[in-house]
Amino acid sequence: MHAFSFHNPCQIEFGAGQIAKLGSLIPVQARVLVLYGGGSIKRNGAYEQISSALQQHHWQEFSGIEPNPEFETLMRAVQFARKHALDYIVAVGGGSVIDGAKFVAAAVPHDGDCWLIIGNRTPLKTALPLAAVLTLPATGSESNFAAVISRRESNDKLSFKNPLVFPKLAILDPTLTFSLPARQIGNGVVDAFVHTLEQYLTYPNEARVQDRLAEGILQTLIEIGPVTLNEPDNYDARANLMWAANQALYGLVGLGQAQDWATHAMGHELTMLFGLDHARTLAIVLPALWRYRFAAKQAKLAQYGRRVWALTGDDATVAAAAIEATSQFFAQMGLSARLGDYGIDAQEAADGVAAQLIRHQRLKLGENQDLTPDDCRAILLTAA
Ligand code: NZQ
Ligand code: ZN
Repeated sequence: MHAFSFHNPCQIEFGAGQIAKLGSLIPVQARVLVLYGGGSIKRNGAYEQISSALQQHHWQEFSGIEPNPEFETLMRAVQFARKHALDYIVAVGGGSVIDGAKFVAAAVPHDGDCWLIIGNRTPLKTALPLAAVLTLPATGSESNFAAVISRRESNDKLSFKNPLVFPKLAILDPTLTFSLPARQIGNGVVDAFVHTLEQYLTYPNEARVQDRLAEGILQTLIEIGPVTLNEPDNYDARANLMWAANQALYGLVGLGQAQDWATHAMGHELTMLFGLDHARTLAIVLPALWRYRFAAKQAKLAQYGRRVWALTGDDATVAAAAIEATSQFFAQMGLSARLGDYGIDAQEAADGVAAQLIRHQRLKLGENQDLTPDDCRAILLTAA
């Protein structure tokens, strides 16, 4: 196990009706900016609950944060917050709204070019406090310190990480997810599944607790994925999905582990170039990457196959069958592994992603820092 340190300052309030706690957990003198997306919160009851929880507070709202949040939109939110001297952010939505809110929290008090916050190209001195009310279990953004922001004008989808933007508070109410369309539930299950795998599926590393935590999250998602897809108002299934997705990227799974975020790196470029949903890019890339890196990952693939999928046989057989089982699970969640199924030409995707990775200086990906843009091109060509 490699050395690690761990700190997560986010207070989590889990369960039905927990939005009511916002009123007492946010300082009463705070001037609150409520950020949200295209309006789903008006249809699932979150908006009314927030209005009622914040009746003692001064609050104003800014809406229209799009999926894969756009820098230009977020800068309008920054100007709005500055103009009205708002000093506490409540993000209500999925990963896009919460990521966008992290950027706004960092940008409002920032002097200088806010675009440099993305990609960690400028130091941050401070950020506004942030609370997250989660409506889409997938990213884990509600209690981590990462954000992914897009800028169409320059073809960039890049992340930044800073402990200053850890949400102080995360409200996880599974009933808010009842209104999610099947497509977003499938996306959420697959995103959480892949987050877990990218911190786990490398090589054996004597991190036994982390391995078993990962395997527990994966088994939970396999169990509840189809149930929650078919039974939108099954509270227990949605509750377990919400907690599994949170724990997948809360910070514990990857402690002391080698990690391989190449699937996400390629996926972000696919989203930028072709507009594919985040999770759909992962379902395309991950199995193809595993086949390409089969020898290096065989030992851990075999452990995963035996413990998570109960497969039997020698290492090579189990490892190969584990890749197939994973891909089939994604298909069961409604996500294809084929670029062609989304009308995307594999050659165009492979060349485009390789060029973007070079432009973004993502030249050595993977657990051994040896996966080049040429390798990424070759991987995508197998996902036609
Ligand atoms: O905008 P509204 O109307 O709210 O609709 C949203 C949006 O269209 C809808 N939705 C959300 N909650 C709903 C709902 N519809 C009905 N009922 C509800 N309860 O769902 C759509 C997609 O929302 P979005 O926030 O984009 O989805 P997701 O949570 O999958 O977030 C994806 C973004 O997060 C980033 C991705 O790159 C992408 O930009 N990620 C962030 C990470 C992090 N911060 O740690 C890690 C991830 O790997 C990921 O990269
Ligand atoms: Zn993800």
